[in-house]
Amino acid sequence: MSKVKEFHPFELNSERIPQAFLMKEISLPKHFYIKTMGCQMNAYDSDSLAQAMIKDGISPVNTPENADIILLNTCAVRAKPEQKAYSFLGRMFSIKKENPDLILGVIGCLAQMKALDLIKRFPEIDFILGPRELGRFQEVLKTVEIDHGRIVAAGSNPAPLRPEHGKGYFEKRVAGYVSIMEGCNNFCSYCIVPYVRGREISRSPHEILIEVENLLTAGIKEITLLGQNVNSYLWDGRDKKWNFRVLLDELSRLDRLLRLRFTTSHPKDLSDDLIHSFHDIRKLCPHIHLPFQAGSNRILKLMRRGYTREAYLELIKKLRQVKPGIAITSDVMVGFPGEMDEDFELTLDLLRNVEFDSLFSFKYSDRSGTSAEAMNNKIRDSVKAARLSVLQDLQKEITLKKNKELEGKRLEVLVEGKSKRGGQLTGRTVSNKVVNFNGNNSLIGSLVTVNIKRSFLNSLRAELT
Ligand code: 5AD
Ligand code: SF4
Repeated sequence: MSKVKEFHPFELNSERIPQAFLMKEISLPKHFYIKTMGCQMNAYDSDSLAQAMIKDGISPVNTPENADIILLNTCAVRAKPEQKAYSFLGRMFSIKKENPDLILGVIGCLAQMKALDLIKRFPEIDFILGPRELGRFQEVLKTVEIDHGRIVAAGSNPAPLRPEHGKGYFEKRVAGYVSIMEGCNNFCSYCIVPYVRGREISRSPHEILIEVENLLTAGIKEITLLGQNVNSYLWDGRDKKWNFRVLLDELSRLDRLLRLRFTTSHPKDLSDDLIHSFHDIRKLCPHIHLPFQAGSNRILKLMRRGYTREAYLELIKKLRQVKPGIAITSDVMVGFPGEMDEDFELTLDLLRNVEFDSLFSFKYSDRSGTSAEAMNNKIRDSVKAARLSVLQDLQKEITLKKNKELEGKRLEVLVEGKSKRGGQLTGRTVSNKVVNFNGNNSLIGSLVTVNIKRSFLNSLRAELT
């Protein structure tokens, strides 16, 4: 196995690369393929790296077999995405057997969590970059290319470094993401995020505004602000203190921006001021993703969530008072250690009570190093699976019922492109529902009004008015 270099924050710089090699302009790989797993933050990071490569003359391809560089952007939040990452890596290792010059990099949360383990176990992996090291991507790639070394960079820089953005990558898109903060300070007992994404750090409003303006210039019409906990955005500027509400107000003034969204919010930090922004800021879409995780106060306490079931329900009431019809989506877990039938019933009861527009639901899985991992009374997988299936059946009924209520309504849709099947146009309502309808490609990027004809679980079928 070739030697593994371990770089610590800021240790890697161009002086490490022998000038002779730089001058020779080693032939650079020309095609890349990125596989992204996990959340929108990973999608955003993958986009950044794609832009950086395009800027350096490397172009994207649709299949890993045709690539010279393959990046796997991993997720570590649950056991399932972790297993998916290992199985994808297995496939990439067989491709690398056929093409030993292929460069294989692993990035994202699993890369951070298992950095040394991955590089030691799998000689096929050329480099590992953690989420706070992405700004060194171009240098790392060059170094791997030139001296065929292997690199691990999984430091915990206070601010995530980002690669320089290229232009042109977003030109075919209508909706884009911008990260405004990263990391989490909450340490919910089950969650690996604070360990792999680090402590909360907000980006400067100046940096955010530049990135938003760039996307608008590229033709993007809808921006989703990203962060593990956007509500705790904070920036102490020379002119003023920026909290999340101030940032939303400022961004909504940009003329070319049609729609603004954000995700994810933590219930314990959802201020009245932020709730009122759904009324006050016209461009802010009436949709909030507000993970509740469990309906039982006993489990919420064990999870260290910092709110009660009653406080959560109060927030829902306020949101609906301030913005009637607001779409509410959430995350929930079943089978947390010690969860009894009565606790699970309280979760089902909360679902019936709130009637979420849609819900992401998961079986609890142990994450190494979290405090829940060390808890007693783990729930058997068969019980978790049975609870998940009951919960998902209930939510399906609710989602379908809510979607059916939209039949016959006129709704505004931002047209995003062609639908995957049937050659129709596809877009989303302000409440984030996917709508498919017949129409001319020239409508892509504009707001249209449609009549909802039929509702399904995951989409609505409509006609242009
Ligand atoms: N097991 C199961 N689900 C988890 N989540 C976070 N950690 C775990 C875990 N250990 C879920 C939460 C979170 C979503 C992103 O993933 O519901 O909101
Ligand atoms: Fe994880 Fe809790 Fe932070 Fe969300 S708020 S990222 S669940 S620790």
